[in-house]
Amino acid sequence: MKKLVNLTILAVLLLTLVPVAVSAQEMVVCQEEVVVAKDDWLSNYADKYFGNAQSWPAVMALHNQAALAEPDKYPDSIVNADILEVGWTICIPAEDAAEAFLASYDPDKPETLYAAGEAGQLVVGSWWTAGGEAEGLAGMFSIYEGQHPDVEIVNATVAGGAGTNFFAVNKARLLGGDPADTFQLHAGLEVETYSPETYLEPLDDLYASEGLEEAFPPDLLTLLTYQDHYWGVPANIHRSNVLWYNKAVFEANGLTPPTTFEEFQQVADALQAAGIQPYVIGTKDGWEAAHVFEDVLAGSLTPEEYRGLWTGEFSWTDPKVTQALENFKMLLSYANEDHPALTWDGAGEYLISGTGGMMIMGDWTDGWFTSKDFTGYGWAPSPGTQGIFVGLSDSFSLPAEAPNKENALNWLKVVGSKEGQEAFNPQKGSICARTDCDPSLFNEYLQSAMVDWSQDAIVPSVQHGAAAILSWATEYKDAMTLFVASGDVAGTQAVLQQACVDAGVCQ
Ligand code: GAL
Repeated sequence: MKKLVNLTILAVLLLTLVPVAVSAQEMVVCQEEVVVAKDDWLSNYADKYFGNAQSWPAVMALHNQAALAEPDKYPDSIVNADILEVGWTICIPAEDAAEAFLASYDPDKPETLYAAGEAGQLVVGSWWTAGGEAEGLAGMFSIYEGQHPDVEIVNATVAGGAGTNFFAVNKARLLGGDPADTFQLHAGLEVETYSPETYLEPLDDLYASEGLEEAFPPDLLTLLTYQDHYWGVPANIHRSNVLWYNKAVFEANGLTPPTTFEEFQQVADALQAAGIQPYVIGTKDGWEAAHVFEDVLAGSLTPEEYRGLWTGEFSWTDPKVTQALENFKMLLSYANEDHPALTWDGAGEYLISGTGGMMIMGDWTDGWFTSKDFTGYGWAPSPGTQGIFVGLSDSFSLPAEAPNKENALNWLKVVGSKEGQEAFNPQKGSICARTDCDPSLFNEYLQSAMVDWSQDAIVPSVQHGAAAILSWATEYKDAMTLFVASGDVAGTQAVLQQACVDAGVCQ
């Protein structure tokens, strides 16, 4: 991704817009040029020249500025901090320049590590760092790069499944007037947390110019509408309620995937007797139990009752919610003891190695298994949810103060396009939000998800932004995290009811 820059235009632009950056750009003085040798790392250089390995961002950022200003001397810019290729010439910046950079460096703004040519940057905020997710995102980046080769893409991820760490970082940037150019946003009520009327651009014009109202199904369009506007372009549809199992383990023990909680218990007992960890979960990031519980709720209630929990039409104090908590407690009684140390994908390793039997997790697991070259997995709706699809959708938004707005709009066009969605979803483990993708590009699981999406009762995920505003979803999540340790059914049910009251939906 080499940028050839018309320096004159750049200088004029910078002089008009960001005078401070000009001085930084013009003043990159390299104290030394080093040619990358085997086993060289940015942190080694930082340690050697500045006495501190943690100063590596200064080397990356200032080298990249030098590479932009003097491409003949420094033809290779550093796109990934962990990848330096043998033979590259690196500018080791002068010590005072490095110090000046580090004084204002903010790790939450990775774009400062990259230079930007005349076409600027595209800073994309998301939490997609796991296998499958990262590849899917890269697939959309490739298409964007093909169309806009002069734009520097900055993959501004904040690791942590379900956006657990992302939300706070992203919101601080947005409210501070310093947002990414576009960021991941679940379709549904999650948008409320970002005060879209102030901080985001409505995307109605883009929907019209790209024909997006014709491309997405009506129910999804309804989910995407908040205060009469569209605030995100959806890339996909995910399913929350999938029971994944190891096929060989099930076959060896003569088992079929359980369809009810009673059957779950029988299968789990059989697995336990065979020395297999019956049920696996990772609870490290604090959202995974809440994810599974939404699926248990959907499996313990009718679709109308489940929907009613989020609209105030079905009561959290109902005995069926008590039963759902008992069902979840039963599941947890078969869980791996090391769950507090594992993320969702860490727990999935039990299934890959055949030491674990079953896991309930969203269908990004399909993308992750695929990225690990694991094909020995089977799937079924989680217990009690035959004919029910607990759905969610990832979209991308446009902050009102996006620094590279045109680049961001072009990104949203890629996200909403058939080409973009076909590059993204087969790797991500999701199906297209569009209705015109080619099914033959998708594996067997995803083809089955397409069929289910078209005929099941669709109910909204709460853990992934669709059903409730973020403050309510967070109270719900925290209650379920505590439940894993306490097993307190009555106390947890009272807290869940109170969360609904706090959200202003229940009395
Ligand atoms: C969800 C998101 C998915 C996937 C998952 C695990 O919230 O919608 O795309 O990233 O988290 O991180």
